[in-house]
Amino acid sequence: MSHSAQRLGVVAESAPGETRVAATPATVPHLVSLGYEVIVESGAGRRSGFTDDAYAGAGARIAGREETWDADIVLKVNAPSADEITALHDGTTLVSLIGPAADPGLVDALARRPITVLAMDAVPRVSRAQSLDVLSSMANIAGYRAVIEAAHAFGRLFTGQVTAAGKVPPAKVLVAGAGVAGLAAIATATSLGAVVRATDPRPEVAEQVRSLGAEFLDVGVAQAASTDGYARETSRDYDRRAAEMYAEQAADVDIVVTTALIPGRPAPRLLTAEHVARMRPGSVVVDMAAAQGGNVEGTRPGEAVVTGNGVTIIGYTDLAGRLPAQASQLYGTNLVNLMKLLTPGADGRLVLDFDDVVQRAMTVVRDGEKTWPPPPVPVSAAPTTPATAPSSAASAPVRETAAAPAGRPPSPPGRRRHLVTAAVAVVLFLLTAFSPNALIEHLTVFVLSIVIGYYVIGNVHHALHTPLMSITNAISGIIVVGALLQIGQGDGVVAVLSFVAILLASINIVGGFAVTRRMLGMFTRS
Ligand code: NAI
Repeated sequence: MSHSAQRLGVVAESAPGETRVAATPATVPHLVSLGYEVIVESGAGRRSGFTDDAYAGAGARIAGREETWDADIVLKVNAPSADEITALHDGTTLVSLIGPAADPGLVDALARRPITVLAMDAVPRVSRAQSLDVLSSMANIAGYRAVIEAAHAFGRLFTGQVTAAGKVPPAKVLVAGAGVAGLAAIATATSLGAVVRATDPRPEVAEQVRSLGAEFLDVGVAQAASTDGYARETSRDYDRRAAEMYAEQAADVDIVVTTALIPGRPAPRLLTAEHVARMRPGSVVVDMAAAQGGNVEGTRPGEAVVTGNGVTIIGYTDLAGRLPAQASQLYGTNLVNLMKLLTPGADGRLVLDFDDVVQRAMTVVRDGEKTWPPPPVPVSAAPTTPATAPSSAASAPVRETAAAPAGRPPSPPGRRRHLVTAAVAVVLFLLTAFSPNALIEHLTVFVLSIVIGYYVIGNVHHALHTPLMSITNAISGIIVVGALLQIGQGDGVVAVLSFVAILLASINIVGGFAVTRRMLGMFTRS
């Protein structure tokens, strides 16, 4: 049975000041290749610098507002207004930022229509979903732009220089919160030549901060390592010591960029008015958390204010949108990756799979039925907590999704486990009693290798998995050599085992090279 392709509408943003658009002339061909008929609202890309002609040249059809909103799938940046919700036709799938946790009323309003809604800001932070994660791609741009805004407002150079006209000291930058935006801000400030320091309650980020050329300021009060890549609320003791550190740093640095966020909570207050008062005139603070209440006392969301002592506090909430072409390109690419996931047949038909945790987590309404909040998504940035850990750990929210480590599966009934252990013991006894000595020796080495390998590999840090892969490749090489030596011995069983060993080891080696090649490809310019 043949079917026609679904129409995919890219609408113009109505939110005042919004510069971004959900597709660009570079992303449209990908949407077309998935089988969709792509319709772009006339003028949708204007504020990002993309003309209607460029979209048409990329394979889209340019249409008016009504026709674009009437599409089967509507792609958008911001959450829809009340008018826009009514403009959607029954059965439409809407994909945009929604902010379901922050705006439950909007989810209810959407669920009153027989439509399906996917929230781009509810993508769980799991590695498989990284290519769809718009919050990360936007925070990355925003972190960069925060430093550019600071440099613009700061009346001096970032880099130190010795010139004929005198010596210029480098600017000192403090970045508070080293998540996605913070790390981008650190990288930008160091590349401009500033002396950069950064702090974060998650001890595991210290290494990343140092690798970007900045100094990590340790508050000196231990905080638990994060199990999901997100911070827990800091202790009182931590906050007191951190406040002392900020007082000291405020008097020393020229620029402060704050990015502290704990998902599901108002922004933690890091700099008080007294801290700001200690800063030198001409210094700049960029408070990236302005929209969530601000990390800095005196921030006004969307504005730059100058304090009595001449410090500029920037609270812009549209930092990513200040690089509209780039932000649209990354947002559009995140959407293309989502559409690939949702179009398994590449046949222009959207298929929503609720067995996929990523698709489930981001669906806030399905066919008019509210599906928010989603069940918890297992997230593992570090080894999971032991089974005896207090259950409060399960309330750790992940951004909008409030995802938490999944409950452990129930352990097998004790009796069955005992029976299995007893059976294994009997088999081992029989093996040792009736086998030649050589076999027992080999078996002992084999069992010991499994135990040691399990603990050694199980404890290797995630960041070291790539070197680990090269070691397993080396081991596979040894296996291949050993198996080649054995295969011609004339014993049928040995030959079959050798063949299987060569096959598996070769798959491992070739697979290792393929993965490494793909990873290296990510760092080369196309
Ligand atoms: P993230 O979750 O990756 O990073 C937040 C970091 O803050 C984490 O590393 C966390 O450990 C740290 N943190 C938590 N409590 C802290 C404390 N008391 N002191 C110091 N650090 C603390 O979040 P992401 O994506 O980097 O976003 C950061 C902020 O930037 C968010 O508030 C986000 O809404 C905002 N943002 C603002 C934009 C704008 O235009 N102004 C655009 C994009 C993001």
